[in-house]
Amino acid sequence: MSTITVTGAGYVGLVTGACFADLGNTVTCLDIDEARIAGLNRGILPIYEPGLKELVDRNRESGRLRFTTDYQDACRGTEFVFIAVNTPSGQEGEADMGQVRSAVESLARVVSGRVIVVNKSTMPIGTGDWVASILERLGPPDLQFAVVSNPEFLREGAAMIKYASNAFLATKISFINEIASICEKLGGDVKTVARGMGLDKRIGTAFLDAGLGYGGSCFPKDVKALAHMAAVNGCHPQLLRAVMEINRDARRSVMWKLRQRLGSLEDRLIGILGLSFKPNTDDLRESPALEIIHLLRAEHARLQVYDPVAMDKARRIIKGVEFCEDAYAAAAGAEALVLVTDWNEFKQLDMARLKAAMAYPLFIDGRNIHDPEQLRRVGFEYYGVGRGQSPEAGNGRVTRPTQVSATV
Ligand code: UDX
Repeated sequence: MSTITVTGAGYVGLVTGACFADLGNTVTCLDIDEARIAGLNRGILPIYEPGLKELVDRNRESGRLRFTTDYQDACRGTEFVFIAVNTPSGQEGEADMGQVRSAVESLARVVSGRVIVVNKSTMPIGTGDWVASILERLGPPDLQFAVVSNPEFLREGAAMIKYASNAFLATKISFINEIASICEKLGGDVKTVARGMGLDKRIGTAFLDAGLGYGGSCFPKDVKALAHMAAVNGCHPQLLRAVMEINRDARRSVMWKLRQRLGSLEDRLIGILGLSFKPNTDDLRESPALEIIHLLRAEHARLQVYDPVAMDKARRIIKGVEFCEDAYAAAAGAEALVLVTDWNEFKQLDMARLKAAMAYPLFIDGRNIHDPEQLRRVGFEYYGVGRGQSPEAGNGRVTRPTQVSATV
């Protein structure tokens, strides 16, 4: 068993550290965020991940997992240091390596003897040599080290794979979203198309779910970074650019659908179901919900939002919306509901109760998790993504509830 230090106690680092500890290694998770470390030392997790709390509690109690902000303390006698800090998108789409630089510089000043530094965050090609040069420059003269690359599923020394794989998966998503918009206009059902395509083993069913597009900390950033790397090295990454554009449009299409049915969105009450970028996480990074909420607020819509686990995080960054205790409260009095995240909880809602709560039963299913016919039977006016019916086909616009009472 090994002694391991993980720098960065976030989505990657905390999960990596907890899993290594559970396998029997002695792990120290290091983070410069004092509040985060103080919380972890009291058993309060900064992120939601199914099963993570139990894993952290168990290993903290057994002494295999500890948390600190002190580099010196964290690196004493360590054999492996995993770099798992954030590499967000920079101004031009490049991976911003500021946090990696500062972590490696701090590390170089405290490590000694023999150490293996593992680049766990997704980092651009050439980072291994760059990290080694920092260790050589700032580390003790007798330091023996190796730098290896191991982002999630990556084989050592093959750092292209990660960017290419993520870009390919993102391409699959944007491809099916483009097919979805064609289906929407021509009357096809993208779910049937995707199922048929998936039966061909060369294509496969995975990552062919049309919807509001990809979000999260990886795909948007990695596609952007790869396109940037390509462009600054004399290539023209046209396909990657199209993938990003289709992804942006997928989110904007919600606005168009709402406007088709409601007309002006000013002062209209709209419910949002789901805030995290995908189910089973509280991660809001690059979440379609954030962009949709931003666009709706720019048009002065009134918003009632709900997410099964991301509410605390959302309260800190989303302003001017009403946070609701459940999906039914988010639907109360609303003229439209937009389902943004495909949480299981939203598949199991009592749809009749949901409809009864609304002022007008317009349902925009951004993840195609409901059966259009079933929802229409309950009385909803339903629009999925690429499900053969486009809001243009609706009969007239939805009248504002206030106007209705004025004419009565
Ligand atoms: C991804 C990769 O899957 C993983 O291999 C890599 O190591 C990190 O990036 P993650 O970002 O956690 O993982 O989420 P993932 O489940 O891949 O979903 C990414 C986004 O794509 C989500 O917003 C999801 O809603 C969206 N998506 C996924 C679709 O819109 N359609 C699909 O068919 C699949």
